[in-house]
Amino acid sequence: MLQSKRILLIVAGGIAAYKSLELIRRLKERGASVRCVLTAAGAEFVTPLSLGALSEDKVYTDLFSLTDEAEMGHIELSRDADLLVVAPATANLIAKMAAGIADDLAATVLLATDKKVLIAPAMNVRMWEHAATRRNVACLEADGILCVGPETGAMACGEYGPGRMAEPADIIAAIEAALVNSGALSGTRVLVTSGPTYEPIDPVRFIGNRSSGKQGHAIATAFAQLGAHVTLVAGPTAEADPPGVTTIHVETAQQMLAACEATLPADVAICAAAVADWRVAKPAPEKIKKGASKNEPTLALVRNPDILANLSARKKDRPRLVIGFAAETEKVEQNAREKLARKQCDWILANDVSSKTGAFGGDSNTLHLFVAKPGGQAKVEHWPHLSKSAIAARLAERIATTLKTKPIKAKS
Ligand code: C5P
Repeated sequence: MLQSKRILLIVAGGIAAYKSLELIRRLKERGASVRCVLTAAGAEFVTPLSLGALSEDKVYTDLFSLTDEAEMGHIELSRDADLLVVAPATANLIAKMAAGIADDLAATVLLATDKKVLIAPAMNVRMWEHAATRRNVACLEADGILCVGPETGAMACGEYGPGRMAEPADIIAAIEAALVNSGALSGTRVLVTSGPTYEPIDPVRFIGNRSSGKQGHAIATAFAQLGAHVTLVAGPTAEADPPGVTTIHVETAQQMLAACEATLPADVAICAAAVADWRVAKPAPEKIKKGASKNEPTLALVRNPDILANLSARKKDRPRLVIGFAAETEKVEQNAREKLARKQCDWILANDVSSKTGAFGGDSNTLHLFVAKPGGQAKVEHWPHLSKSAIAARLAERIATTLKTKPIKAKS
């Protein structure tokens, strides 16, 4: 899959550097050539010897080495690559990239390149969550730098949280998405819904749900990375607006439907939002006071529009592919098949969201793709456990392949 692709792998100084050895092995297995740049701190964790043995190439370490510059200058290192991958990307190197500092070979190559760059951050949870790192990562993303991970989990420092470098399989998926299909969806209009909805009870209270918006936002990002024109209709989430995506912020299901309809025509619609099924029939115009009445207040609810079913049923401007999610806590397969038929969408991505899986709000998930077959049983593909960004990359690639085999008909 990565036959004859040239990866320049920059290994910075973090304990996760040991995973980069496995990454090199897997890239080579897929037919890529790998050349490594190792920072001075990186060399404290892995040796040039092991990187060199696995990559079967010279390992570059020193900006001012006469022999290195004579054989392969820092400009050539980048010129000779299809993609630059920084794994692990430490807080320090990310900060240097954001500031444009070029004080060693790795940072200089990263400043001198015009190639795509993918970073796999790895650091202590507090460093990842620090305002400075948040700013720097947002800055890199706005510059078009791709990012995979980090994952949430137990860390070498004994703490728990986000900061663990993405697994080699997830980094490979991100590399493939960046290289193999880059531009594969240019000209394709994609609509994505994401996050929860908030249905007002009164001006200060609402009915909401636990959706984080992580999956929907990752999907919007992955489609933009393949060159699609993406509109993201986002309910209230803590997720940042993805770079290169038009984001429309809404609160309620009705606003979400109106924003989706205003975005049409679209070629693909992906409904990843957890839309409230009911809303309060008559939200109070002022805050409901505790002492306003002797009785406990009761809320009369009315059904919200089903955005997925609505988009699927459209006569005019029905997207060519309408895709929904089925978040289930039991009978995942049965419910997914039933939902596919009832909502008349084309694909359903089903997952088990019972609390044992940690799928809700977590960074990874196990999905099953159900593809509707007119007049027949839906076909199912079981996907491996992947990070939400790898799921998004895989979905975007899968759609790029589907649209290639059944191209979108030009509108007359
Ligand atoms: O029926 P259920 O809520 O389980 O269906 C889930 C799928 O339907 C998701 O893709 C979700 O985004 C979509 N949905 C919707 N509008 C609703 C309810 C669900 O688009 N009102």
